[in-house]
Amino acid sequence: MCGIIGYVGAKEAAPIILNGLKRLEYRGYDSAGIAIVQPSGSTDVRKDIGRVAAIDAKLDFLGMKGTIGIGHTRWATHGGVTQNNAHPHISNNGKIVVIHNGIVENYQDIKRRLLDEGFTFYGETDTETIPNLIELEMRGGKDFETAARDAIKQLDGYYAVLAMFDGERKIVASRDGSPLVAGVGAGENFIGSDIPAFLEHTKTVMYIHDKDFVVIDDAGIRFKDLDGRAIERPVHSIDWSLEQAQKGDFDHFMMKEISEQVDTVQKAANQDKETLFAVADAVKKAKGVFLVACGSSYHACLSASYIFSKIANMHVNLVLASEFSNYEHFLTPDTLVIAVSQSGETIDVLDAVRTARRKGSKVMSIVNVMGSSLHRNSDLSLMLNAGPEICVLSTKTYTAQLAVLSLLAYTVAGRYDEGRESLQYLWNVIYNLTAANTRDYIKQLADKLKDKEHVFLIGRGLQYPTALEAALKIKEVSYIHAEGFSGGELKHGTIALIEPGTPAIVFSSADNEKEIISNAMEIKARGGYIIGVNAHSNEVFDFFIKTPEVGLLNPIVQIIPVQILAYQLAVLRGCDPDMPRNLAKSVTVK
Ligand code: AGP
Ligand code: GLU
Repeated sequence: MCGIIGYVGAKEAAPIILNGLKRLEYRGYDSAGIAIVQPSGSTDVRKDIGRVAAIDAKLDFLGMKGTIGIGHTRWATHGGVTQNNAHPHISNNGKIVVIHNGIVENYQDIKRRLLDEGFTFYGETDTETIPNLIELEMRGGKDFETAARDAIKQLDGYYAVLAMFDGERKIVASRDGSPLVAGVGAGENFIGSDIPAFLEHTKTVMYIHDKDFVVIDDAGIRFKDLDGRAIERPVHSIDWSLEQAQKGDFDHFMMKEISEQVDTVQKAANQDKETLFAVADAVKKAKGVFLVACGSSYHACLSASYIFSKIANMHVNLVLASEFSNYEHFLTPDTLVIAVSQSGETIDVLDAVRTARRKGSKVMSIVNVMGSSLHRNSDLSLMLNAGPEICVLSTKTYTAQLAVLSLLAYTVAGRYDEGRESLQYLWNVIYNLTAANTRDYIKQLADKLKDKEHVFLIGRGLQYPTALEAALKIKEVSYIHAEGFSGGELKHGTIALIEPGTPAIVFSSADNEKEIISNAMEIKARGGYIIGVNAHSNEVFDFFIKTPEVGLLNPIVQIIPVQILAYQLAVLRGCDPDMPRNLAKSVTVK
């Protein structure tokens, strides 16, 4: 959701901010805008609905002059997708501009107070209250920085806020729950929702913590608390390359990141042993383990619950992060919560962690983004090492999560070496599954399915979460309705939807083949078109995709052909594989 970037330096700000917004497009948005403090001191604000490039063509962002500015891509939560509701938002006196990611949960109370003070509003958003609240605080004689701090203290909810004041060469910023990171350049400084926004300018970053108040000006980056007391934050060097955050020879990030899995599964398996064994020990000592996640990360955790059961003879609880508060009465100081999140910024996961903390439980995480909120709020973290995942869809980070969770289960079972070797074997398997000839073969299936309205996907055992994840991939990028479910559930209702030609993707493996093939037969008997994903073909399959039998690691290899299929369906149907409609890379609002 939403992208934020700010720049203070000696260069023209417009090109840097415009490029930064383009690098943040993958986060999902519906409108965009830029504000730049001009040499005259007044602030130039340009914003509209639509794609960044289209708005630039209409409003000429590069025609904005000045060396300090802020930019925003909005994912609407309060107020329609309109030019008025796009950010930046401007105070009544026209001197304060603000951009914001998140939700001001008490905006109606604030708005009523502002209206009583004679303020007027041109839009419908919660955000528009922030610049006016700062103006109200300044009416009391406070300087801009103090007024901004005191206004931010009054906000309830989740936010990442940047603000500028006419004529002052500074950006002030704060966050609570929404992502924000500062970039340290040579004679210039940056701030953004995510590192790719300014990665081409610097790899030196300073992570911003919740309720930090940051001042960025020509003197540098200063951290304070919301009462104005100075605080220290360390500087970090990151090891992401700009190339990783670019498409290279691929048409879309999605296919690039699917192809990267040859290596990213290995990088995920290459865990720091001390940390891995420490997490494994915590799992063994805990009186109750909860895996908590959303979306694809949840599907990875569902697979893990089967793997922990089979290899470590252990029951781990699995809860959707958005439902976790319903289980808080089970939490004790002896409980271990393992939060799994690629971005480390998913608001439901962060809320679940807050709940766990409130009950004194231990919190560990499996996360891809170093310095993310989840990473910084965990006692221990296992990193996915997958590099930046730009496509909104989770592909390489999903299989990386599976690799880390599988290795953790093997380690808990005292079989680390076996787990490590099993994962190393996958290099060749994934290389073949992502090779051009395999992609061409799967394209034949995409051509058959591209005009279908519905696709059903079934599996049993470890293939059940794979069916759920595969369905999510297809529906979220090609907009074909896809439903995944356990093969055993077919006759409990969904079979009523099977008609002649209805496609069904059937995942099977050595340990549940007979039952799932029976389910395939039941679909076939009603005219269904059966696509088999298995180590060997079967007469019931109308289309067969071979994936070698790799036992407990089947979820890693069996998802890859459907990731490719989903991508190809999206392209055939004219959908944007990297930025599907309505979706965002990191769900930072409820
Ligand atoms: C994945 O394809 C989806 N875009 C989505 O379900 C995602 O997995 C979910 O939002 C969780 O994100 P996280 O791993 O960053 O917490
Ligand atoms: N709640 C704000 C709005 O609707 C910010 C949304 C966002 O995070 O982009 O404008």
